[in-house]
Amino acid sequence: MCGIVGYIGENQAAPILLDGLSKLEYRGYDSAGIAVSSGEEIRMVKATGRLKVLDDLTHGGSTLPGTIGIGHTRWATHGEPSDTNAHPHLNKDGSIVVVHNGIIENYLKLKKKLENKGYKFLSETDTEVIAHMLDYYYNGNPVDTITKIMHRMEGSYALGIMFQDHPDEIYAVRKDSPLIVGESNEGNFIASDAPAVLKYTRQVYFIQNEEIVKLTKDSLTFYNIDEEVLTKEATTIDWDINAAEKGGYEHFMLKEMYEQSKAVSDTLNPRLKDGDIVIQELGMSEDEIRKIRKIYIVACGSAYHTGVTAKYVFEGLARIPVEVDLASEFRYRHPIFEPDTFVIIVSQSGETADSLAALREAKSHGVKTLGIVNVVGSSIAREADNVMYTWAGPEIAVATTKAYSTQLIAEYLLALKFAKVRGTIDNDVFASMLEELKQLPEQISLLLSHKENVQKFANRYLATEHVFFIGRGIDYAISLEGSLKLKEISYIHSEAYAAGELKHGTISLIEDGRLVVAVLTQPDLYKKTISNIQEVKTRGAFVMAVTTVENTEVEKVADYCVYIPKTNPYFTNSLAVIPLQLFGYYVSIGKGLDVDKPRNLAKSVTVE
Ligand code: F6R
Repeated sequence: MCGIVGYIGENQAAPILLDGLSKLEYRGYDSAGIAVSSGEEIRMVKATGRLKVLDDLTHGGSTLPGTIGIGHTRWATHGEPSDTNAHPHLNKDGSIVVVHNGIIENYLKLKKKLENKGYKFLSETDTEVIAHMLDYYYNGNPVDTITKIMHRMEGSYALGIMFQDHPDEIYAVRKDSPLIVGESNEGNFIASDAPAVLKYTRQVYFIQNEEIVKLTKDSLTFYNIDEEVLTKEATTIDWDINAAEKGGYEHFMLKEMYEQSKAVSDTLNPRLKDGDIVIQELGMSEDEIRKIRKIYIVACGSAYHTGVTAKYVFEGLARIPVEVDLASEFRYRHPIFEPDTFVIIVSQSGETADSLAALREAKSHGVKTLGIVNVVGSSIAREADNVMYTWAGPEIAVATTKAYSTQLIAEYLLALKFAKVRGTIDNDVFASMLEELKQLPEQISLLLSHKENVQKFANRYLATEHVFFIGRGIDYAISLEGSLKLKEISYIHSEAYAAGELKHGTISLIEDGRLVVAVLTQPDLYKKTISNIQEVKTRGAFVMAVTTVENTEVEKVADYCVYIPKTNPYFTNSLAVIPLQLFGYYVSIGKGLDVDKPRNLAKSVTVE
């Protein structure tokens, strides 16, 4: 959470910093700040609110001269959003400037020590401790000073640092928070994520844990924590730059919903070869696949919801027991790891702190791990034994859509492959399921082309306060995601329930006009869910049903029906989620909310 940028080069820094921050605003957007050095002095401007406020205050950066600077967009952890708590933070005489993404877990202890030495703190942030520690240990050698504070800080950090007496240099360092360095003929960059530098360069270096980099306008020097110089290879980013722009769509979320069809194809097609599924990056022999006795799928939020679906698919097709865990729980619950346990970590960003910690926990027990990750080179991608990328491209809207859809595909592919290798499905079933997978991109496009129907329906529910989503089996997993999509971007309270569970308490909340969204895509469960719809209808609910084309029976009980095309019951989530994403989107924009940047959230949750 929080985005950092830095630029050192030939051009005026402030407009470049603001532009870079605008690409990182998805990481945090409650305040922002930049510091620019003109050689003689460092000037700093900070502002509470969206980046626009800072942009207006500095006239697009034009009021700040200087070709070297660092910037920050914040998602508050320590201290409320305010100008004082916004980054950058300074040492006592303003000669050292720091921006920080992450959390210094022992900051109270460090703060106390510094206060005892006479340091005065202006903000409530953990970051100010870093500025004063740099001051305290400063010996004229930035790299040496940075390593001293690294030995004392616990927690996570990506830092951009400028020292007044090294006016032609920027320093950066990371531990457990993302950081990349961009290299170009017109200067060098640091950033939390590649989209911030893509306009200027595609040559980037991924900084590893506890590595330090010194940037001048025409050189980069990398060091480890022992101050030894490292040789690093640049990576060329091959995304289309438009992938990180709105490209004519009103919102990133709408654009990304539309990109789902392509993202699903891009994740699926390269792994289908001659009637088989080939997942080279799995790094597992068929023998190893046959030996798996248990799978843990571990993730947070929507990524966790794909795991809930995948449990049904793996267990149903490959007959392997699966436990799905929230990463924040998994890491502390002392899970049982047998030698033939396989752990799958699912994450769009590849930086989610709890998911990364869960991965490390699994690895420390020597079991085999796989990351299903979207961001190339991210921490989970690097640390997992193997990584299966979801080729969704950059996802900017805070609420995930296309990354979610590609995570499902990656999990279907694995489950089908495992089932085939273990002989739990026959060749004909395998072949017909591959054909059904191949239809999904077109079916997703078809559903999106009917978006106006969902919009009309959504507009009737802008003032509603509570919504329930119900379903059974995989339909329950879809309900979880539909409910999260609605609440996170519309601020309407919603809950997902396994349809049969409602009557064990929650049904007392159903009253006249209460909207209940029922998902019925599993033929063997239709009748059961229809009974559950009847239960809520009797108590006054208004029911919107999401079901498959042939299931017209549901029209007798539901008030409004949305149909999805026919596919294999294991894959219906990929289709049923589309109207639910659209529903959340249209309620949010109908209420005039900022759908791409909902309040209190950030795209990449790099704190516990
Ligand atoms: C909801 C959403 C979040 C993420 C969760 C995990 O729309 O996007 O629930 O799914 O924060 O993030 P990643 O996948 O980056 O680990």
